[in-house]
Amino acid sequence: MVYVSRKEHFNAAHKLYNPAWSREKNLDVFGPCANENWHGHNFDLIVTVKGVPDPETGFVIDLKKLSLLIRQEVTDKLDHKNLNLDVEFMKDKLASCENLIMEIWKILAPKISTISKFGVLHALRLYETPRNYVEYFGEPN
Ligand code: NI
Repeated sequence: MVYVSRKEHFNAAHKLYNPAWSREKNLDVFGPCANENWHGHNFDLIVTVKGVPDPETGFVIDLKKLSLLIRQEVTDKLDHKNLNLDVEFMKDKLASCENLIMEIWKILAPKISTISKFGVLHALRLYETPRNYVEYFGEPN
């Protein structure tokens, strides 16, 4: 089994804010991330596909096709957007990296098979800052 990864970039604004709570409680729990007038991050998304190489190409997945897929299906919909207001698949969800990475998985996992006979989505890693990131491996089967 070989693991093949592609990194894509986007920047986006959000705030962490639970509308069921008071302003004070939001500030207490989320700190400056609850700032009402938003803040932004430079996100990096790393998509890892696993599989055995196709004997005809030697590839698990064509990285040009994977890059295009990630951009068309995910990062073009997030780049220069407000995660709380502009992104259909984040509607009515807290705009945390944890929720975002699970939604990205739902979009990408079924699409990988359309561009690779041999690869399946293995992992996503989403960097919110160079030091803070979340990983997701899908729901256990
Ligand atoms: Ni933030």
